[in-house]
Amino acid sequence: MAGTRRGFGAGPDSIRDGGKAGAPAFSKDGTLTVMQVADVQEGVDVRPETTMLLERALDACEPDLVVFTGDQLKGYSLSLRLSGEAGIRKTIADILRPVTDRGIPFAVTYGNHDCQAGLVNERLEEIYRELPGCMNAVFGDEGKEPGTFCVPIMASDGSGPAMAVWLADSGGDATMGGYEAFDPETTRWLVESATELDRSCAHRVPGILFQHIPMPDVYDCLREAAPGETGVPGYRTHYRPGQRLRLDERFAVEGEVGEVICCGNENTGEFDALVAQGDFFAAFFGHDHKNSFVARRRGMLLGYSPTASFSSYGPGLDRAVRVLRFSESDPRHPALGLLSYRDLVGEETTQPARDWMKTHMVTTVEEVLDKLPRLPRVSGPDVPGTASLPGDGAMASM
Ligand SMILES: [Fe+2]
Repeated sequence: MAGTRRGFGAGPDSIRDGGKAGAPAFSKDGTLTVMQVADVQEGVDVRPETTMLLERALDACEPDLVVFTGDQLKGYSLSLRLSGEAGIRKTIADILRPVTDRGIPFAVTYGNHDCQAGLVNERLEEIYRELPGCMNAVFGDEGKEPGTFCVPIMASDGSGPAMAVWLADSGGDATMGGYEAFDPETTRWLVESATELDRSCAHRVPGILFQHIPMPDVYDCLREAAPGETGVPGYRTHYRPGQRLRLDERFAVEGEVGEVICCGNENTGEFDALVAQGDFFAAFFGHDHKNSFVARRRGMLLGYSPTASFSSYGPGLDRAVRVLRFSESDPRHPALGLLSYRDLVGEETTQPARDWMKTHMVTTVEEVLDKLPRLPRVSGPDVPGTASLPGDGAMASM
């Protein structure tokens, strides 16, 4: 797990007071815009296309809060690792500059690659917090740990929190391949803190959660593709030879599955706990760079932002940021949108051949197997998973 786990913090006290000075608030017209940026995954030389996408998107949607959902850093980049803290600090500043130059509040959580650059998340948190507009909670005081905290959204009349934006560190790579399961203590902190926030405000405070790695429950929003339909294979324990999955129309809100759902190896009950708590109406993820769909299941939106990066694999010119526009009178039903490089900038990039390769590269063992000559079609609950697929962790750590 990235970073050192701490005990459940005193979060509700500061949340009750409205959080840090300058906390985001619904505007007088009762709207609030959040822009999610996923998997920037840049190294020491930030691609100008990534910066341009962020700049154009910020100017297009004028968000009240920008949420970075992990893997800001291309932690496996040798040049970044060799650059030391000074290089990491410069990279973070360069990535954030479109946001900080515009004076927009931002919040950050972490993915599986950030700490690979050579600094633990506690230190990364300190670096982010030095930048103007950082809303990350004071580590050990307001949040549970770096990347796990709450940003209260104040009512337009200043009367107190009208909504809450929660961020959670969803863990990192698992030792034996794949990804760590979501920490049950983080789930407990989210549930307890949200419940305490309700109690202190004397009303329910609707909450949206952002985290890097998707919940395994996303698979419950999919169905098996029919012959002739497109689909993607499952991942590890969700893999069935020959089976392809696509978004189930019963749960679809927008978009279609673009790549394998690379979730944790085990379902520790996060989704069930958040549904039962009742405040959480949405959870948005990154990590799967080509996924940008949104589904709704058991009253919760489950959705993605695709990668905003041109330094890692992604959906070509459809690299994008996600925009969520909330109404104070009904925050549980936000207007959803994507702002893509194609729409904001165009079809020109400085490295088209490299971008083509990163658009078409295969990133998981399951995709390799899916491209092999078709094996006998097998499905059903009795088919064993593939938890020990060789080399999986190395290929899938995007
Ligand atoms: Fe990731």
